[in-house]
Amino acid sequence: MWSTVLITGGTGGLGRIVARHLVAEHGVRSLLLVSRRGPAADGAKELVAELEQSGAQAVVEACDVTDAAAVAELVARHAPAAVVHTAGVLDDGVVESLSPERLAAVLRPKVDAAWNLHEATKGLDLNAFVVFSSVAGTFGSAGQANYAAGNAFLDALAHHRRTAGLPAVSLAWGPWSQDSGMTGTLTDADVQRMTRSGMPPLSAEEGVALFDAALASTEPTTVPARLDLAALRRQGEVPPLLRGLIRTSGRRTAATATDGDTTAAFAQRLTGLSAAEGREVVLDAVRGQVAAVLGHSGATEIDEDRAFLDIGFDSLTAVELRNRLSALTGIRLPATLLFDYPTPAELVDHLHARIAPEPSSGPEALLGELERLEKSFGGLAVTEEVHEQIAGRLEVLRAKWHALRDTAPAAGRDGSPAEEDFDFESASDDEVFDLLDNELGLN
Ligand SMILES: NC(=O)c1ccc[n+]([C@@H]2O[C@H](COP(=O)([O-])OP(=O)(O)OC[C@H]3O[C@@H](n4cnc5c(N)ncnc54)[C@H](OP(=O)(O)O)[C@@H]3O)[C@@H](O)[C@H]2O)c1
Repeated sequence: MWSTVLITGGTGGLGRIVARHLVAEHGVRSLLLVSRRGPAADGAKELVAELEQSGAQAVVEACDVTDAAAVAELVARHAPAAVVHTAGVLDDGVVESLSPERLAAVLRPKVDAAWNLHEATKGLDLNAFVVFSSVAGTFGSAGQANYAAGNAFLDALAHHRRTAGLPAVSLAWGPWSQDSGMTGTLTDADVQRMTRSGMPPLSAEEGVALFDAALASTEPTTVPARLDLAALRRQGEVPPLLRGLIRTSGRRTAATATDGDTTAAFAQRLTGLSAAEGREVVLDAVRGQVAAVLGHSGATEIDEDRAFLDIGFDSLTAVELRNRLSALTGIRLPATLLFDYPTPAELVDHLHARIAPEPSSGPEALLGELERLEKSFGGLAVTEEVHEQIAGRLEVLRAKWHALRDTAPAAGRDGSPAEEDFDFESASDDEVFDLLDNELGLN
């Protein structure tokens, strides 16, 4: 049993869970919970009362742990027996958007604060020095370059302390469920996206069980995370760290976003289609990926003329869509894709132009078109009026085709004077009908 345990971020989502767990399962009777807001943090009073009910005394103090002097003073005053550093903030964004200020905001409560705690507790015989890190530092994470770097520092600090004979363990957490801490603002769509990406969130029960396992382990760094191996395998490109766990064929593991075979396979789907039909195929594919990224069930409801920003895309989801479309089509697409082509319609036109095979022409193409036309008759239910209308159009086509043969030099001519003088290019449908009726002796 430890005496006072200092929990930085002790009034935050995971800090609270750890505080309760230490009291309930580890018999801790004295807690020092710090955060910048301290007693002013939401629910701090209730948390203290709850911990008291469980038999522990909790003190909540306001302390910015990025301030070395404040940490030194806090530690000198309370002489904690163990430290659990959970304090941290997020400021996600694509790497080009990360200013020095945005980097510092995320690095300071990770790097500076952990170092301050390391320095301030050097003279104490600590039982444990636990730092809360993230899989972002281990695997990398889209839009979290600053956060990944901060957490990688925590993992390294745990190694450093162990090497120096000091207690330390870094827990590079996978995501926790929505009702705890930093993930509290995630939408259902975000959670679905995380689950699809192969790392579903941990429940509080799973989290504290993994906390205990990490403390019992001899390793300085651990990665407590849930992995859905089947979902990870479906990603196509398995992260290098997981290649020992997930077997894929060499071909898929080596797949890259500029895979010529993938491009050819997608282009194959457009072969023999008219431009309009081909565009429809690309539109379906784009809508499907847009719906998957946003967590919509109805891909067909996605309006192709509504701007991506208006339908809920941000810089992170824009990158995810770019990655998915690259993987699907096999062509390299820029990170700025959705800014260059701000609506699905513009994106579809761009992709279609890059993927579609050269339009085919000549007799083969014409016969192909006729075959498709004939197939489209099957099962068509039309009114009498529409039937007449279509029959008329077909007659016009037939007459135009005949006229073509009659004017072609190589073709045999049967020389109808009426048709010879007739200008099919500029004639209206009614004029062509009149001609046909004359031909058929109906006038
Ligand atoms: N939740 C997850 O799914 C998840 C996953 C992986 C890793 N983690 C890691 O676990 C830790 C806890 O996450 P959480 O979800 O509990 O976050 P959270 O609910 O936002 O809590 C973070 C706490 O840190 C405090 N804090 C921030 N900056 C501080 C500073 N400079 N000095 C003192 N306190 C400070 C905040 O309080 P004030 O604002 O009042 O200062 C808050 O109490 C983080 O380090 C995070 O990186 C979490």
